[in-house]
Amino acid sequence: MKTTNSQQGNSIRDMEPGAPVRDGGIPLCVPEIHGNEWSYIKECLDTNFVSSVGPFVDRFESELALRIGTKYAVATASGTAALHISLLVAGVQPGDEVIVSTLTFIAPVNAIRYVGAWPVFIDAEPDFWQMDPEKLNEFLVNDCHVVHGELHNRSTGRRVRAIMPVHILGHPVDMDPVLEAAHRYGLPVIEDATESLGAEYKGKPTGHIGGIGCFSFNGNKIITTGGGGMLVTDNPDWALKAKYLTTQAKDDAFEFIHNEVGFNYRLTNIQAALGCAQLEQLDDNINSKRRIADTYRAGLTGTLGVTLMKEADWAFSIFWMYTILVDPVRSGMDSRGLMRRLAEQNIQARPLWQPAHLSPAHRGAYAVNCSNAERLNQQAVSLPSSVGLKHLEQERVINTILKKGVD
Ligand SMILES: Cc1ncc(COP(=O)(O)O)c(C=O)c1O
Repeated sequence: MKTTNSQQGNSIRDMEPGAPVRDGGIPLCVPEIHGNEWSYIKECLDTNFVSSVGPFVDRFESELALRIGTKYAVATASGTAALHISLLVAGVQPGDEVIVSTLTFIAPVNAIRYVGAWPVFIDAEPDFWQMDPEKLNEFLVNDCHVVHGELHNRSTGRRVRAIMPVHILGHPVDMDPVLEAAHRYGLPVIEDATESLGAEYKGKPTGHIGGIGCFSFNGNKIITTGGGGMLVTDNPDWALKAKYLTTQAKDDAFEFIHNEVGFNYRLTNIQAALGCAQLEQLDDNINSKRRIADTYRAGLTGTLGVTLMKEADWAFSIFWMYTILVDPVRSGMDSRGLMRRLAEQNIQARPLWQPAHLSPAHRGAYAVNCSNAERLNQQAVSLPSSVGLKHLEQERVINTILKKGVD
């Protein structure tokens, strides 16, 4: 049974994301509900359209497609479901390999395993912490060869079937070299854009750079439906197949005939109503995130041993979760120590994910030198980044990091 903060005091783990924050505490990243959410959800209740069919589902799909610029959008029960379905529609088969960022929340890696395929982990580059296109290329050139027109990993013998870059923390991956490599070997690119809705790469929205993009609307994302996701694409066959697979693969809905194994991955009308209201606030939310990033930058620039989050000149970042690196030698503190100090002040912070190539759950997958991701995992601290974060609260976070007025 989970103990409460008052029973334990503020340890780092009491402050883990999703854990309730005591009065006066500063949460890591919580939703902001202040638009048409109530009235749209009331409309669902008044009209009895509470489940997975209803006007808000269609509206949310078409409005998100419009925003991203894709021809199609298929709503799903979660971002993970969108990733799972993407792999299926892109033709990934059991025993194939899918190239994926090692520094990511685990969901895309799990999705690869759901289809019976294997991840191949690519390291993060040191500047923006995204999938390193040079290391991707090294893997393709040095570790793979073409057999009967198909790309195979020389070491595992498995067919390499897709690339799944993950745009982490709201910043895009450097996509041109990824697309170039994908084109060279005829590999579909599935973007995990779950953390980067609204971000752009050279003016193109993330999610609409490769063949398929996936978004998440869970509670900590830039807009939320409580839980939910979306798959976007310009490919009509993939969109149709995604709709079919997410709705139990009904070939004859009257006689209940199913020619394939489908999934109950639908978003409900109530969730979509929330999504429509939230989407109306996306630009405001992005502005807030960018303002929060500016304030952290202004407050922490020049702090010895602290590296700040950057934005590439080819990128528009939404700074979804503002993250810093703490070098223990130069700063005299380590990331976990800093998180403890923040927790003592009732401020939630978190590390970056265990790089997936080290995950016990994915033992046996192929990876090439992922040392940057390992260092980032050791040094990173994600700071409170809620859209509704108040200036005084942010000053408290900055002062705690700088040890101003903190014992
Ligand atoms: C990078 C990444 N991919 C996938 C997901 C999965 O999204 P969801 O929680 O909606 O399944 C998340 C968020 O949770 C994520 O951060």
